[in-house]
Order: sequence, then structure tokens, then C-alpha cells
Amino acid sequence: MVRSKIAGIGKYVPQEVFTNNDLTKYMDTSDEWIQDRTGIKERRYAKKHEETTSTMGLKASQMAIERAGIDKEDIDFIIFCTLSPDYYFPGCGVLLQRQLGITKTEIGALDIRNQCSGFVYGLSVADQFIKSGMYKNILLVGSEMHSMGLDFSTEGRGVTVLFGDGAGAVVLQPTEEDKGVLTTHLHSDGTHAEELAMINPGSHGGLFLGKEKFGYPDNDEPGGVFVTQKMLDEQILAPNMTGQLVFKTAVKKFPKVIMQALATCGYETSDLDMLIPHQANLRISQFVQKLLKLRDDQVYNNIQRYGNTTAASIPLALCEAWEEGKIKEGDLVCLAAFGSGFTWGSALIRW
Ligand code: ACO
Repeated sequence: MVRSKIAGIGKYVPQEVFTNNDLTKYMDTSDEWIQDRTGIKERRYAKKHEETTSTMGLKASQMAIERAGIDKEDIDFIIFCTLSPDYYFPGCGVLLQRQLGITKTEIGALDIRNQCSGFVYGLSVADQFIKSGMYKNILLVGSEMHSMGLDFSTEGRGVTVLFGDGAGAVVLQPTEEDKGVLTTHLHSDGTHAEELAMINPGSHGGLFLGKEKFGYPDNDEPGGVFVTQKMLDEQILAPNMTGQLVFKTAVKKFPKVIMQALATCGYETSDLDMLIPHQANLRISQFVQKLLKLRDDQVYNNIQRYGNTTAASIPLALCEAWEEGKIKEGDLVCLAAFGSGFTWGSALIRW
């Protein structure tokens, strides 16, 4: 039976460290508030005008490709997961292909916009391509430059303090050994789509939330919907989040989708060597750990140092856990994510 294995893994975080105290220069917040509520101590911000989501993805990819022991021209498909792309279109996949210098093969590149669940969704898509025999070396990347779109005033503090920049990447290959991706599970519920969202600019034209709120011109002329003067004047171009709803839903969905992956393969929580939860909030991870009765050494968290890096958070944490020797050959590893959409998912891997 053919499965997909992770043949190489890489990561990149920008050099610039922003502590909680650094944020107090821009907004009314405190180290104590942020650490108590989220566990975050610091995060990294990409160097404006020099780094982007795709350039960070490139660095993580180069490390993953080297560790997989392949040449860039061996890659036959790219999947790029992000909610903070360099351009509205085209996606980051083709920008990465260009920067990698993959010029001979004209391989396909797909962008996935599933926010915090992006990497798990991407892994599931890659897994299907590999199991079907269509591709042999898939480069799967999660990368985010959140710092480009956050509101650094006090008004934006409820969201801004949570997020950081970074990237992670893996190379997936087929294997006939008893290892690799055992199962993936993807879910969504669009009921609360706007409760964790960056809705402007877009084509919605106020349809779901009311036209007046966004300052759309009152005429039937074509155009004029993407971005309005009011959005610019009132800064309604930043992400918004109903934090408590996100928290309450996340702590229900995480355990369920983790148990779904374990049960599908006939395992229990005691069989798990490592859980890599999406790094949304340390309190969410701790809640899930307690509920599933997992020991500290069965769960990996690095949100304290990087904040929430959305699509990058799982590959970044997976890479660090592996580099630190906390994931070894033969280990049973579960990836689990929850985020905007709402979307959520899990993957079980025999390392
Ligand atoms: N610093 C200081 N005070 C703040 C800050 C801040 N950064 N942010 C909000 N506050 C204030 C609020 O204004 C409010 O003040 P008030 O009582 O005077 O009105 C007070 O703190 C409490 O605000 P809440 O939003 O109710 O705080 P809560 O305890 O819910 O914590 C938090 C907020 C940390 C965001 C929490 O709800 C949470 O973690 N939710 C989950 C969010 C999450 O994980 N999101 C990411 C997952 S999805 C994804 O990754 C895309």
C-alpha cells in the first residue's frame, strides 16, 4: 500500500523579535495581559520591503528540499498555504516556483486559503495526489507575514498581539514502508465565517453584514466595491475576531478531530507519541491536553516564542520538535488545527 511520507522538513523565522513589551510602544497592552491570556512572550516580524510570505516560504522550502536529498527540479507539484499572500492574485505558489528557479518542468502550483487549518488541508490534498500515483515529490508550504496587515493601534490589540510571522515546509514522497500519513480528516462550518475574518478588500459589497457599514457608493455603476474610502479612513481593512467564540469552539473541535484520527486507525490517546496542535493560544492547547489526559512530553508548543503563525504554525512546530529529537523514527504523531471559517482538521502520521 502506498502512503505519503515526510522526506524532508524545514522552517524559517525572521530575525526581528518583538516582545510583548515592544508592543506596548504602539498600543495599550501589557506583557502580563498577553502572557496570562495566550502564553505568548514574543513573536517575529518579517523585514518590511525585504521579506514577504513567499520569500519566507522559499527559505523553509530550501531547507526541506535539502533535507529530503532531492534537487529542486525533482519537485513535481507545489502546494502553498497562506492567508497573507504577497499578492491578491496570483498566489504564492507560482512566486515560490519562480524564486526556487524551477524553470524546466512547468510543474503545477496550488494555493490553499484555509487559514489556520491550511497546512492540514494541504497535507490531505498532497496525500491524495501521492496515493493516486500522480506525483512523487510534493512541496507543501505554510507561510505567513501577518505583520503586514495587523492594526497596531489599541483598537486592534485584541487580534494583533496574537500573531507572528514565519514559515514551514515539507517534501512529501510515496513510500511502501509501514509509515507516513495514516489518515486525514477535514471539517468546516461556515455559520460563523465573519467572526474570525479579514473581510476587506473583497467582493462582498456588504451583502452579509450591511452595505452602510463599509461606505459603498449608492449607485448602480459597475465597480467601486473592492475597497472604499471609508475602509481606508476607518481602518476596516484589518482582521477581526470574536475571541471568546473562537476559544469556546476550538476547545470543542480540537479534541473531537484528534479522537477521530486516532479512532480511525484503532489507536487511543496513550498510543500517541506527539501531538502538534495549531499554535492558536497556549491556553487552548493546555485545555485540550488536560481533556485528553496527555502528558507534557506528548504535546509540543512553541507559541511562546512565535505567536500564532496560522498556516505556518504546524510545520514550524513539527520541524522544531523533530530537530529537538522529540519526534523519532516510528513515532505516532498527530497534527490538529482549528481556525477561521470555521475550518478544522487532523492528520495522523507514523514518522
Ligand atoms: N491587551 C490588554 N487588554 C486587552 C487586549 C490586549 N492585547 N485585548 C483585549 N483587551 C481587553 C479588552 O478590551 C477587554 O477590556 P474590557 O473588559 O474593558 O472591555 C478585556 O481585555 C477582555 O477582553 P476579551 O476579548 O473578553 O478577553 P478574553 O479573555 O476573551 O481573551 C483572547 C482574549 C486572548 C483573544 C481569547 O478570547 C482567545 O484566545 N480566544 C481565542 C482566539 C484564538 O485562538 N484565535 C486564533 C485562532 S484562529 C486562527 O489562528 C486564525
